[in-house]
Amino acid sequence: PATATKSEARAEFVVVANRLPVDLDRAEDGTQRWTQSPGGLVSALEPFLRSRKGAWVGWPGVPDVEVDEFSDEGLVLHPVTLTSTDVRDYYEGFSNATLWPLYHDVVARPIFDRGWWESYVRVNRRFAEASAAVAGEGATVWVQDYQLQLVPSMLRELRPDLRIGFFLHIPFPPVELFMQMPWRAEIVRGLIGADLVGFHRPGGAQNFLWLARQLIGLEPSRGSVGVRSRPGMVQVGDRTVRVGAFPISIDAAGLDSLARTKAVADRAAQVRADLGNPETILLGVDRLDYTKGIDLRLQAFHELLQEGRVKPENVTFVQLATPSRERVEHYQRMRGEIEQMVGRINGEFARVGHPVVHYLHQSVNRTELAAFFSAADVMVVTPLRDGMNLVCKEYVACRHDLGGALVLSEFAGAAAELSSAFLVNPHDLDGVKNALEQAITLDPAEGRRRMRALRRQVLTHDVDRWARSFLEALGSETAA
Ligand code: ADP
Ligand code: G6P
Repeated sequence: PATATKSEARAEFVVVANRLPVDLDRAEDGTQRWTQSPGGLVSALEPFLRSRKGAWVGWPGVPDVEVDEFSDEGLVLHPVTLTSTDVRDYYEGFSNATLWPLYHDVVARPIFDRGWWESYVRVNRRFAEASAAVAGEGATVWVQDYQLQLVPSMLRELRPDLRIGFFLHIPFPPVELFMQMPWRAEIVRGLIGADLVGFHRPGGAQNFLWLARQLIGLEPSRGSVGVRSRPGMVQVGDRTVRVGAFPISIDAAGLDSLARTKAVADRAAQVRADLGNPETILLGVDRLDYTKGIDLRLQAFHELLQEGRVKPENVTFVQLATPSRERVEHYQRMRGEIEQMVGRINGEFARVGHPVVHYLHQSVNRTELAAFFSAADVMVVTPLRDGMNLVCKEYVACRHDLGGALVLSEFAGAAAELSSAFLVNPHDLDGVKNALEQAITLDPAEGRRRMRALRRQVLTHDVDRWARSFLEALGSETAA
């Protein structure tokens, strides 16, 4: 998509995230192209930012490349270079082997490494400097996610004229877990440089307010934080920092209309036919991440088959798994375990030409994804912990036919909004199996009732509403 630009005019609205919305993909023969970056942050923010013509500061996804700024359909992209050492220590190390597991309930053991921390500080400073160079006088800068928690304070020092927001896309952990972090006060000080610190859930905001008191002696407000309302307040010198809850969402109308196209309907029918027109298709769609509970849902499915509660000739499980963080050890181990389980289940229950589990370690495009969602009778979303989880909202947005059923973990942020799903505790395997069986045998009228309620929620709470509510609370947007 790239056209190189030299922008003299500095931007009024800047998003700063570890990744650009596109990744540089370099083939062995030296050719290169840009592809969409993985993950929910980009899925959510990209459509919103394109409609605003803002600037985006981020890493192009490969080490050791210098790329000039360029514009892509109205969006100006400002690449930040990471060296191979930065990728190892800041990205794979501190971001994804320390913060990611610590913030996801210590599902895996976080590693505390002083060298990684130093790299995190250095790279955060580089992002702060890049943002300071891009933002116009008095601009709004919106910093995203756990990789950049020191940027708000660093940027404020460089550019006190800016309005700075921060949003955390992953869960903010219980305080007992956060207190394990050797650099806990530094992180709270980093975030407090923002004018507004946002989380998905009020609990995250409340935890952060408690830590601001305990770790840096500030005096936060005491009332309870609401959803998109009643933010907490902390006085930091002459500044008031707000701390609130803003559950993120998707471009629901966009997906709804995509799912209504003939191309998607035809492809969905083709997918069903390719799978041998089974009575029931179960679907999982995730980055291949140990927080997503892919192993648990496979185990539940396996036991249902073994107990004869599900017949292999009637039910097919499809798991789409985007490759993710492939050099981080936990991810490598988990991939091996999942692939072994897929092999074992197929070994026991498949017939020639008819696997019971179809596993694709691949990323698919939006039309293809909408077709899978449209074809799936039961969507299985079972994370052990997830900040929000957009996949379950995308599934609901695609089901204009009111078909399908959603099995959803209580430990996804989305569970607070999607109460008409079959909610499960993913640690309770019998509970997951019962929910799957209920969803497979669901009475169609009851299914439509549930799906109608889910759609009412998702279609009225889209990503645009999320962004506007955050920016209004930041004071850079007037109420619509
Ligand atoms: P996370 O941000 O942790 O990856 P989310 O559920 O919030 O989890 O967002 C994941 C995003 O990535 C969604 O927009 C989803 O559609 C997309 N995605 C996940 N797996 C695939 C896949 N195999 N192919 C294409 N898109 C995928
Ligand atoms: C989650 C995180 C994002 C991250 C994405 C993909 O959505 O919240 O910050 O970009 O996963 O992970 P990756 O490590 O590939 O950027």
